[in-house]
Amino acid sequence: MDDRLKHLKEQFIADFSAVKAAEELTALRDKYLGRKSGLLTAERKRIGTIAAEARADFGNQVNQLNNEVEEQLAELGKQFAAQSEAAALARETLDVTLPGTQPPRGHLHPITLLRQKIEDIFVAMGYTVCDGPEIETSFYNFDALNIPPAHPARDSADTFYLSNDLALRSQTSTIQIHAMQRMKPPLRVIAPGRVFRRDTPDPTHNPMFFQVEGLNVDRHITMADLKGTLQQFVQLMFGQGIITRFRPSYFPFTEPSAEVDFQCYICAGEGCRVCKGSGWIELGGSGMVHPNVLQAVGIDAEEYSGFAFGLGIDRMAARMYDIDDIRLLYENDVRFLEQFS
Ligand code: FA5
Repeated sequence: MDDRLKHLKEQFIADFSAVKAAEELTALRDKYLGRKSGLLTAERKRIGTIAAEARADFGNQVNQLNNEVEEQLAELGKQFAAQSEAAALARETLDVTLPGTQPPRGHLHPITLLRQKIEDIFVAMGYTVCDGPEIETSFYNFDALNIPPAHPARDSADTFYLSNDLALRSQTSTIQIHAMQRMKPPLRVIAPGRVFRRDTPDPTHNPMFFQVEGLNVDRHITMADLKGTLQQFVQLMFGQGIITRFRPSYFPFTEPSAEVDFQCYICAGEGCRVCKGSGWIELGGSGMVHPNVLQAVGIDAEEYSGFAFGLGIDRMAARMYDIDDIRLLYENDVRFLEQFS
């Protein structure tokens, strides 16, 4: 081998073994293969100056050395690239199994939670969930419910009138009429919904609140069916062994009528904070559908009878969740609402 080339090769091997980083490799490439001042490039340029008989051999030697240098530089270049990729991967490792940061989640309103629970219980008993308009005519609000023309419930001091004949419904009993117009007996429906009354707000009253209506019309329906149904509901809702009591009452659309209470599920009738010492908690109004109501929707009161009930969901929620003022339910204070998630 040509002495100069031999010396150059040794020099390259020494330089090459000292390279520790990719930048040094670039400098090494420039030093030997750089177009202007590369040491090996200079040898290539010299080929033309070599005596003709030795030129081919010298040229071969230069080319071979050039190829070796290129190969070694390329190989080391690959190693550096692999190392830097591995380092980057290690640096940027993402553990997709780590739990993420949870964004705050909304949840259902306590009234909705309770309404769904009530619906589930009655649906399991074979009831269908119905709805009706919140704005009603006097026919649905009063006439069909057997509420006489001079009844105080018709007074504008009690009901929100929108016009002479239109008012916001003041009880879900209006849905009884819609249901009986739409379906023929036997029918079993429950109808949760919003109702409106000109009641002054206080811890147990709101001008807007929720009721759930129940209606069961068939042949031979009796008061015993009503009592059994509400007893069953109370036990599924508040716990086995909780008993109900029926107090005689009056509603124009039921005869006989009764207010329903259930024994306090906290103190079992002893008297506590939840039942305000009485041992009983009010559930709502109920009774046997008045024959006039059946007739108003074309159902033969001789052949069919039915029971109905209307329960106040807000007050039930107050008891269940130990809320001492039902107005809190509608103030939209997140600190209050987030307790029910
Ligand atoms: C009625 O509304 C009858 N429609 C119930 C009924 C239906 C009787 C079917 C017979 C047959 P009452 O006015 O008592 O009844 O209201 C029923 C329930 O609504 C009450 O027990 C109470 O829980 C709730 N309630 C009444 N007024 C308010 C109010 N201002 N704020 C919150 N809840 C109320």
